[in-house]
Amino acid sequence: MTFQLTEEQRMIQMTVREFARKEIEPIAGKWDRESLFPEETISKMAEMGLLGMMVPSEYGGAGLDTVSYSLAMQEIAYACASTSVIMGVNNLVCEPLLKFGTEAQKQKYLVPLAQGKFIGSFALTEPGAGSDAANQKTSALLKDNFYILNGTKMFITSGSHAKVFITTAVTDKAARHHGISAFIVEKGMPGFSIGKIEDKMGLRASDTTELIFENCRVPSENLLGKEGEGFKIMMAALDGGRIGIASQSVGIAQACLDAATRYAKKREAFGQPIAEFQGIRWMIADMATEIEAARLLTLQAALLKDRGLPFTKEASMAKLFASEMVNRVAYKALQIHGGYGYLKDFPVERYYRDARVTTIYEGTSEIQRNVIAKLVLSTED
Ligand code: CAA
Repeated sequence: MTFQLTEEQRMIQMTVREFARKEIEPIAGKWDRESLFPEETISKMAEMGLLGMMVPSEYGGAGLDTVSYSLAMQEIAYACASTSVIMGVNNLVCEPLLKFGTEAQKQKYLVPLAQGKFIGSFALTEPGAGSDAANQKTSALLKDNFYILNGTKMFITSGSHAKVFITTAVTDKAARHHGISAFIVEKGMPGFSIGKIEDKMGLRASDTTELIFENCRVPSENLLGKEGEGFKIMMAALDGGRIGIASQSVGIAQACLDAATRYAKKREAFGQPIAEFQGIRWMIADMATEIEAARLLTLQAALLKDRGLPFTKEASMAKLFASEMVNRVAYKALQIHGGYGYLKDFPVERYYRDARVTTIYEGTSEIQRNVIAKLVLSTED
């Protein structure tokens, strides 16, 4: 497959790059150190259309394609991985609303989400349902036009800043994944509260929280799709989300490579810049090659999605490869920096911590391998 960006895609890439390098990169270290949620920057990104990139303009979005979304995610992640996950999750929440929402739900929730008037969260994971996402314990009981939700969600990105949450609960226990339904929950609904804010290793400018439902009353018109469709709705959304995380991984990795090459050309040892040593050169060559491979896998998955072709396998491949790649690349970038890489004075220390979660969230590497193997093995000869 050859890959040529269109004029419009290149323009989006350059515009977002300029914005991210000027407005985000210089302060990302401070946000990380002080765990500051980048509220103002998110508002600027909303004005640029980055929070609902693939939502048609009639619903408040930028009406762009997935390739453009991937390019933008790469640029934002290059500057600040925390900011990119906030952007990624908002885009992730828009997708099921667009595909499965009623017209009233779209007007009420999708339009302001895509415009970035408020931000959204994707709440699937529970304390006992991570990789085994169908093992949901949160329940929903229909009573007098309200679903009564009880349970706890965990590891929820943007939990304490979001206004709208797409979540799941069991409406029919006996039916396993066919008994899971999706709901739109608003901050402030009775019985809904934010629990613990997690103290994370990386992505420290993005908040990750618990959500607690205690007899939470959700109007029945906030059911997303039909009863029992929730698992499929969330799985389908995650296919697209995985392209986002692959893009984020490519962006962080490119930042690692650029930092490492800058450092290697300046730092001298044994009478010459360390970039002259074969050991360093080969590390840089491997990093650059792996990043390129991950970028192509990611753009390929995005292109398939844009063409309306099946892309589940390709999205998992891109996510698997790019997330494992960024961890190898961050390791090498830190190694090239030597002792300085271990200090918070150099951004590579932040990249190393931020990269770690990419093999875990939106499906671990082990889950991606299961998805890929299932699809490879089910292909007819
Ligand atoms: N699209 C649509 N439907 C899908 C699907 C997809 N990609 N994958 C599975 N399904 C459907 C299947 O067709 C099947 O439906 P039918 O029974 O009607 O045929 C149903 O879902 C169940 O499929 P499986 O039997 O394959 O399901 P499973 O229970 O064995 O598990 C899994 C599948 C792939 C392991 C899934 O549980 C999974 O992806 N787990 C990881 C969860 C995950 O990624 N969590 C991330 C949390 S969100 C997050 O991290 C966001 C953030 O904040 C950054």
